[in-house]
Amino acid sequence: MALSIEIRDLQVDFPARGGGVQALRGLNLAVEQGAVVGFLGPNGAGKTTALHVLLGFVEPTAGSAFLFGEDVRRSIAHQRLGYLPEHPQLYPFLTGRELLEMAGGLFGLRGRARRERVGSLLEQVGIGEPEARRRIGTYSRGMMQRIGLAQALVNEPDLVILDEPTGGLDPIGRLEMRGLIARLREQGKTVFFSSHELSEVELVCDRIAILARGRLVAEGRAADLVAPGERLEAYFLRMVQGGAAA
Ligand SMILES: Nc1ncnc2c1ncn2[C@@H]1O[C@H](COP(=O)(O)OP(=O)(O)OP(=O)(O)O)[C@@H](O)[C@H]1O
Ligand SMILES: [Mg+2]
Repeated sequence: MALSIEIRDLQVDFPARGGGVQALRGLNLAVEQGAVVGFLGPNGAGKTTALHVLLGFVEPTAGSAFLFGEDVRRSIAHQRLGYLPEHPQLYPFLTGRELLEMAGGLFGLRGRARRERVGSLLEQVGIGEPEARRRIGTYSRGMMQRIGLAQALVNEPDLVILDEPTGGLDPIGRLEMRGLIARLREQGKTVFFSSHELSEVELVCDRIAILARGRLVAEGRAADLVAPGERLEAYFLRMVQGGAAA
């Protein structure tokens, strides 16, 4: 099976006065095409840093990362990628529709093709006509996540990277985001997303990867990892506390 993501011996140090931080300390991880993988780990474990390396925002101190077999340092690696950041900063003065039209234009879509793509994205993420005409500055957190996901999908990516897509969402918003991720899976897309919502992750993911202190401490199918009768949360705590001792 082809790999969408491959991370090898990845190390990221953030230098600072008085010591600095080793955000990633030899991370190895592979994500197969078409898989939905939840990226778990406590605050500060290094999840966002790893995603930033994949996106080309952070230069690794050592090791390497590949998207579809291309080194992430080559811009071609990013063409089939969509990304929703942890805290999307979207132009507040644009309407939802205008944002998607602008994003479509950046990918070379024009005229009817662009109108159709924008219409289908709005429908896919469940943004109706009145909301699409409102400025993003007036959107609720749930609406922001939807329009953010729509802009991540504007280039019809094969791989979608989401940094805490359910962060700050109410239970209804989480359920809806889970439905959106399930739909991406049905379309054959690879989804790699960080989350703290273990119950969500268990429901929507094919596999989970758990990071603790910059290292992978578990990876596999949730059903294979957790002991019979054990809850994912208990397993997570066991792995993360074990990782802390390592
Ligand atoms: N630009 C930076 N400069 C210095 N330190 C950084 C920088 N970015 C991240 N760090 C540090 O690297 C470590 C990993 O942070 P990261 O944001 O990757 O964790 P995370 O797993 O995404 O956490 P969370 O669940 O809170 O989002 C933390 O100690 C953080 O303070
Ligand atoms: Mg993070």
